Amino acid sequence: MDHQSHSAEQARFEAIIAAEEKIEPRDWMPEKYRRNLVRQISQHAHSEVVGQLPEGNWITRAPTLRRKATLLAKVQDEAGHGLYLYSAAETLGVSREQMVDDLLDGRAKYASIFNYPTLSWADVGAIGWLVDGAAIVNQISLCRTSYGPYARAMVRICKEESFHQRQGYEIMRTLAAGSAAQKAMAQDALNRWWWPTLMMFGPHDAESAHSQQSMQWKIKRQSNDELRQKFVDQTVEQARHIGLEIPDPALRWNEERGHYDFGEIDWDEFQRVLNGNGPCNRQRIGDRRAAHEQGAWVREAMLAHAEKQRRRAAGRAA
Ligand code: 3HC
Repeated sequence: MDHQSHSAEQARFEAIIAAEEKIEPRDWMPEKYRRNLVRQISQHAHSEVVGQLPEGNWITRAPTLRRKATLLAKVQDEAGHGLYLYSAAETLGVSREQMVDDLLDGRAKYASIFNYPTLSWADVGAIGWLVDGAAIVNQISLCRTSYGPYARAMVRICKEESFHQRQGYEIMRTLAAGSAAQKAMAQDALNRWWWPTLMMFGPHDAESAHSQQSMQWKIKRQSNDELRQKFVDQTVEQARHIGLEIPDPALRWNEERGHYDFGEIDWDEFQRVLNGNGPCNRQRIGDRRAAHEQGAWVREAMLAHAEKQRRRAAGRAA
């Protein structure tokens, strides 16, 4: 593309972004914009699929049929979220095979939060309430992202996430109102999941490698710290409402800021988990690899069937 037409395309791209309209797959886009989206959307998809593993651990051990059916529905939703997001990423020219290979070969990430163990039934409540609650704060913001397929996937995902967060909070409220042992189980789960949940929003803005460019391109509409603060402000009240204690001695309302001040995240732990040394990293990626290998025959059968259908249609057309 010669320089003049490139700058015309760049100007058109920037005008769409400035006008709060959506960049669509057929639109010209800077290669770095495309690569940034492939990175973020594919890792978002990986997180949804790997995120089924911690909760799946409790499907066969749910305390009642109602809890089992609700958890099953939630875990199935997460699989669907992963498929929407892989499809959104594919509109950018990357194949699903490539994305899954990148994950299994360690070139792509998934959310650090899913590298923690689910030790009790209360963890299922804490994940729904806190992890899906944090995901909603992030994903509501992403409904306004500049890439059309991603924004539209978010709208649908957020509707289902709300059910995920409510069912988790209801589990925690039930336990907190139960016996002393049940309340202790809920508090223990909150103690273990609170800080890893705050890490979901990423490093501080000053340390974020992608935020500045992502905000400029309106991929990211609010910063990591802004979304983290929004999550803390809303969740502290929810914990208080059910009589649980946020495990942060530095937490206090700051009237002047109109927000909660809170303690510092253990960024060494964050980096340890990102580097593959969290409590469950090996187990999670091992399970994800085994599922991919055991599902190979399904993919092969579907592709063979599609090829047969294509040949039959071509034969008819000839
Ligand atoms: N876990 C793993 N990696 C993380 C992370 C986390 N919690 N936070 C940041 N990172 C990574 C980033 O991916 C980036 O690494 P990369 O260059 O290899 O991709 C690096 O740390 C620097 O972080 P940045 O803040 O510069 O990166 P981003 O601008 O991409 O911001 C983000 C990070 C806020 C997670 C952003 O990518 C995002 O909003 N992603 C979409 C939402 C998402 O992926 N959520 C994951 C959970 S999904 C979920 O919870 C499903 C629910 O149903 C349970």
